[in-house]
Amino acid sequence: MTIMTQLADRDARAVPYQLPQPAGMVPDMLVPGGAAIECDERLWVPQGDRVWFRPVSFAPEQGFYINYLRVRGAGVLSRHRHNGAVHAFTYRGTWRYLEHDWVAGPGDYAFEPPGETHTLVIPDGVSEMITLFFVTGGYVYVDPQGRAMGYEDVFTKMQAAREHYDRSGLGAGYVDRLIIGRSGKGRLDVSR
Ligand SMILES: [Fe+2]
Repeated sequence: MTIMTQLADRDARAVPYQLPQPAGMVPDMLVPGGAAIECDERLWVPQGDRVWFRPVSFAPEQGFYINYLRVRGAGVLSRHRHNGAVHAFTYRGTWRYLEHDWVAGPGDYAFEPPGETHTLVIPDGVSEMITLFFVTGGYVYVDPQGRAMGYEDVFTKMQAAREHYDRSGLGAGYVDRLIIGRSGKGRLDVSR
């Protein structure tokens, strides 16, 4: 007996939507374990000295990606200018931007507006910071005067993950399982 049948037995409201979904809708997706911080270490993609990202999903057709950023130890990470909005949910440790007086800690939500340039810093005494970033558009690495030095977006993140997963033995195709939209390859249990 399915869960839905059991539910329907005791609740007459448990009736699924009866009409077709709209034309053009992309497929839904479930990635079991895909949002777990405690996971196969190979899923953490090295991004620099003591810095890693763990992709949750990529949406190349919509121009955004969701990933955890993990930093071990204090220091300055990067100065960058966003061309899209960012939503940040902090899980461990603290972090801040030199341009603001607030400090984000576990349980905090932060919004980064499109157009803003800021400098990400992990304060002294923080052994590990883990934050989930929902990044729309991309961002440009800049010097203090705003001169461009590089960029990052869903495509650079996907490429970095493909290369690392290929080297680590997970396989470059692993990334396809994390793609939202028609180019995705569906389900994969990444908890094991
Ligand atoms: Fe940022």
